Amino acid sequence: MTELDSLVEAARSSFAQAQTPADLENAKALYLGKSGRITEMMKGMASLSVEEKKTFGAAVNVAKQGIEAALTARRQALADAELAVQLKAEAFDVTLPGRPLTQGGLHPVSLTLERIEQIFGSMGFEVAQGPEIETDWFNFTALNTPEDHPARSMHDTFYVEGGHLLRTHTSPMQIRHAVQHVKRYKAQLEAGKGMPEIRVIAPGRTYRVDSDATHSPMFHQCEGLWIGENVSFKDLKVVFTDFCRTFFESDDLVLRFRPSFFPFTEPSAEIDIQFQTGPLAGRWLEVAGSGQVHPNVVRNMGLDPEKFIGFAFGMGPDRLTMLRYGVNDLRLFFDGDVRFLSQFQ
Ligand code: DAH
Repeated sequence: MTELDSLVEAARSSFAQAQTPADLENAKALYLGKSGRITEMMKGMASLSVEEKKTFGAAVNVAKQGIEAALTARRQALADAELAVQLKAEAFDVTLPGRPLTQGGLHPVSLTLERIEQIFGSMGFEVAQGPEIETDWFNFTALNTPEDHPARSMHDTFYVEGGHLLRTHTSPMQIRHAVQHVKRYKAQLEAGKGMPEIRVIAPGRTYRVDSDATHSPMFHQCEGLWIGENVSFKDLKVVFTDFCRTFFESDDLVLRFRPSFFPFTEPSAEIDIQFQTGPLAGRWLEVAGSGQVHPNVVRNMGLDPEKFIGFAFGMGPDRLTMLRYGVNDLRLFFDGDVRFLSQFQ
């Protein structure tokens, strides 16, 4: 074996020992680098004769090509090995079953609220939203509720800093919405031309110090208000009966207006419904409070009670949801248990 052959051999074996690309590049420098063995040999040729240069130069070239070939092969081998390790690490079992995509859905009470908005929307009612942190004025005083009314006590109402409170019902929206409406038609009203009727519902969260199977400290209400120059209790009956029958998809549903008392209505009535068929048939179920809006409340809306009249109602969407789906514990709606909630999708 010539000196050049053994040089190629030595290069090949040191390349083979290199376990990383960095090792390999270091090994390459020993042979092909600026002061590597091959480079040194080529420099040494300067002192040779022309003939010798020819033969020796050709031999060195062959050796150089041999070393370069060995280098390329080893580079490829290292890259292949690295890829193999990576593929092994990232391997996954394509035969495993996939993870199902869980699909979210609307909360049952949200479904009810959507339904309420849709039904009243079809009867020409707007939908209004208002703050859950209220002032005493909108929640009580403007609604003709006297200073010493039990609802104003700490046992019933959550008070927050700054003399505000968490609204105990959606009724403050009667005032808030009506005041805005009256403002919008101020010029027209002052010119004695009247105004378009106020026809609105206001769904939302409400709060009371209360907790048992049928009461939750946070619950929902939906207020309804219809004010005009010629709106009567008959209109309330028609609208609410229509709503209940559509909501429960039952034409033979019966309604009862039971005399009651609320400070903001006079006269006032609780609205009870009765199914003629199904598991709840024959029982009277209370679903809303209602009444003709009290003259003091009409005045607080900025309207003349001698001219404007109408009715209001407040219903409990949570309770409507319980009745519609046959749920007997209100708290289930707010526990956030997916096993319960997913049944309504
Ligand atoms: N705000 C009443 C409550 O929470 C419900 C109610 C009764 C609302 C009569 C009304 C109404 O608008 O006219 O108990």
